[in-house]
Amino acid sequence: MINNLVDGSHDAKLLLEAQAHVWNHIFKFINSMSLKCAIQLGIPDAIHNHGKPITLPGLISALPVHPAKARCVPRLMRILVHSAFFARAKLSENDQEGFVLTNASHLLLKDNPLCVTSFLMAMLDPILTAPWHYMSTWFLNNDPSPFGTTYGMTLWDYAGHEPKINNLFNEAMASDARLVMSVVINECKGISKGVFEGLKSLVDVGGETGIVAKAIAQAFPHLDCFVIDLPHVVAGLQGTDNLKYVRGDMFDGVLPVDTILLKWILHDWSDEECVKILKRCKEAIKGKGGKLIIIGMVIGNQKGNNDSIEAQFFFDMLMMVLVMGQERNEKEWATLFSDAGFSDYKIIPILDLRSIIKVYPSSTI
Ligand SMILES: C[S@@+](CC[C@H](N)C(=O)[O-])C[C@H]1O[C@@H](n2cnc3c(N)ncnc32)[C@H](O)[C@@H]1O
Repeated sequence: MINNLVDGSHDAKLLLEAQAHVWNHIFKFINSMSLKCAIQLGIPDAIHNHGKPITLPGLISALPVHPAKARCVPRLMRILVHSAFFARAKLSENDQEGFVLTNASHLLLKDNPLCVTSFLMAMLDPILTAPWHYMSTWFLNNDPSPFGTTYGMTLWDYAGHEPKINNLFNEAMASDARLVMSVVINECKGISKGVFEGLKSLVDVGGETGIVAKAIAQAFPHLDCFVIDLPHVVAGLQGTDNLKYVRGDMFDGVLPVDTILLKWILHDWSDEECVKILKRCKEAIKGKGGKLIIIGMVIGNQKGNNDSIEAQFFFDMLMMVLVMGQERNEKEWATLFSDAGFSDYKIIPILDLRSIIKVYPSSTI
């Protein structure tokens, strides 16, 4: 115990460790903001374009920073090396050191098709960070979400009125969809065949701009794919031979198909709303062998991996603050499925933090 409440004495080492722990939590946002700044300055691309470790003077001259700020660049780089976004490496021609990218900062390169920068820029946009300041206010009132407390409407209504946030959000989702589908279609061929092969028709409900459906439609050309989303999301989008966009509200009903996909949908909603969505999906699934495919998190499937557990908890809090949803453990998923009348499910944990969950309307597993 740090403080002995009886005589007021304390263990100085524990006291100072506790203070450092509090400081680190107060300032965790500095990691996010330093990363955002590095992206805005073009640091990952400057290092990449150099083609070999780049010295500090080389980096400074490659960046658009004001000369008066050049001396601050090493400080920004030091914290980003500490948080493993960049590393230091020896230059082969002499004993000098230069900066190189890490696996994480490769995902921040503009030309990387799996770039996740737009996700970062959306989540750290002041419009989406403001509701975090209202979390305690929301705990004391009856509003559905801190986002609602901040703006008086849902995120979806806000995106419908504000093209800037609509575009930011759509690009953020598209970047995640590209990364996930590259794993599902390219890296896990056997599993994706097992999931999608032999299907005739699929609708991606809340499928946004269709990145997920496009990847499936290309990999499985005999499959008729549809994307249902809100009018402001699918307005003006052009389909292909086997991909069509449909304006619609998932609470009103879903096109009849043999397979329905829900990626990152149910975590946006309360249990009651999830059951409504799942019932609409069940009504729409036609034919023998029809199923629902969910891509989402199963809390607790990352036993022992502290970084992944923290990421799952972050997402759960994000859902609480921005929408009205939550991340769920297996028991909570199972309850939703049975409350909506589904019989069986199978979790395929192939996406590290996330899983593919196959859900069957009648007992077929
Ligand atoms: C978190 S995003 C997921 C997007 C996409 N499935 C993905 O993972 O990339 C949720 C999507 O649900 C859509 N959405 C929200 N309410 C909806 C409704 N009532 N009917 C249809 N789509 C809705 C949003 O516009 C958004 O595209």
